[in-house]
Amino acid sequence: MQDIINQYTAEINAANPANADELEVFRIKYLGTKGILKDLFEQFKSVGSEEKRVLGKVLNEFKQNAEAKFNHLKETLDSGLNTQDSDTDLTLPGDGFALGSRHPLSLTRIEIVDIFKRLGFVVAEGPEIEDDWHNFSALNFPEEHPARDMQDTFFIKKNSGQDDIALRTHTSSVQVRMMENGQPPFRAIMPGRVYRNEAISARAHCFFHQVEGLYVDENVSFADLKQTLYHFVQELYGEGTKVRFRPSYFPFTEPSAEMDVSCTICGGSGCNMCKYSGWVEILGCGMVDPNVLENCGIDSKKYTGFAFGMGIERITNLKYVIRDLRLFSENDVRFLKQFKTEII
Ligand code: DAH
Repeated sequence: MQDIINQYTAEINAANPANADELEVFRIKYLGTKGILKDLFEQFKSVGSEEKRVLGKVLNEFKQNAEAKFNHLKETLDSGLNTQDSDTDLTLPGDGFALGSRHPLSLTRIEIVDIFKRLGFVVAEGPEIEDDWHNFSALNFPEEHPARDMQDTFFIKKNSGQDDIALRTHTSSVQVRMMENGQPPFRAIMPGRVYRNEAISARAHCFFHQVEGLYVDENVSFADLKQTLYHFVQELYGEGTKVRFRPSYFPFTEPSAEMDVSCTICGGSGCNMCKYSGWVEILGCGMVDPNVLENCGIDSKKYTGFAFGMGIERITNLKYVIRDLRLFSENDVRFLKQFKTEII
C-alpha cells in the first residue's frame, strides 16, 4: 500500500490542470466519493493493526497533500494566473485605452508658446468679454475706425462708445491689461480666442485664435523685433526659412509691419497655398505706439517696446495644409484623430 501511495503522491504533485474542466477531473479522481482517497481508506480498514499505526500517518498526510494541492490549483485557476489556461494568454498585450488626441490648434499654440517661453517670455491671459477701453480706445483706435463697427464686432452692450462691452476682436487687449497693471520690463506671450462678426466660410469664421506678443523695456528697437521674430520663424519652420517685413498700419503700433515667411509648402517656388508668390503672411507687428504706452501709465520717453500678433488657425493651416477653417470647430473625430500625438 505504501508503494501505491508514493506513486499517487508523485502523480498529484506533478498534476497541472489547464482549466476548470481538467481540475474537476483531478478532483473526482483523487477526492471524489468513488475516488482514490476513498478507496485507500477502504483498503486501510483491512490492514493489520501493526501496519495501521505507520500507514495511518502516511494516509493522513496523503489526504492533506491531495486537498492542499486541489485548493492551490483552484485558487490559481480562479485568479487567472495559470498561463496554460487556453482561454487566457497573459503574454498578450492588454486592451489599450482609446486616448484622445490634442486639437491641431492646441498643438500649434503649445509650439508657439514654448518657443517664446525659451526666450524668457511669460504667458498671460485676459477676458474674452472686453470693454471698449481695453479692446479699442487704449489701443489708439480712432472713433471712426471700421473695426469698431457693428459689422466687425459682436457687441454685448452698445451705447455711447466708452461703456460698450464686446467680445474681444483681438488679443491685443491683453497687452493693455498687462501694462496697466505693472511697470516695464514686460516680456509676455498672450494666447486666446477672439471673435469677429463674419459670415462663416472656408476662409473666415466668427471666432478664431491669436497669440499676442509684447516686449517693453528701455532701448527696445525695431532690430530687436526683427531678430526675435526671425528666431521664432527658424524655430517654428526650421533653419533657413526666409522672412520679409512689409510696411503696414495698425493703430497701436508705429511703425507697423506685416511679416511674411517663405512658403512652407513649396519652399518659395510657388504653389496655390502661397498664391504662386512664394511668400505667406503670418503676423502683424510693430513698435508700440507711444500713445498706447501713455494710455497704460507707462513713460513713453523712458520706455519703448514692440508687439506682434498672429493667427493660430493660419499657422496651423500652413503646417498641415488645411484649407477649410470650419474643420477646426466641427469636432469631426475623423479629422481630429489624424493629429495623434503623445499627450504630455
Ligand atoms: N491685433 C491685430 C489683429 O488682430 C494683430 C496685431 C498686429 C497685433 C500688430 C499686434 C501688432 O500686437 O503689433 O489683426
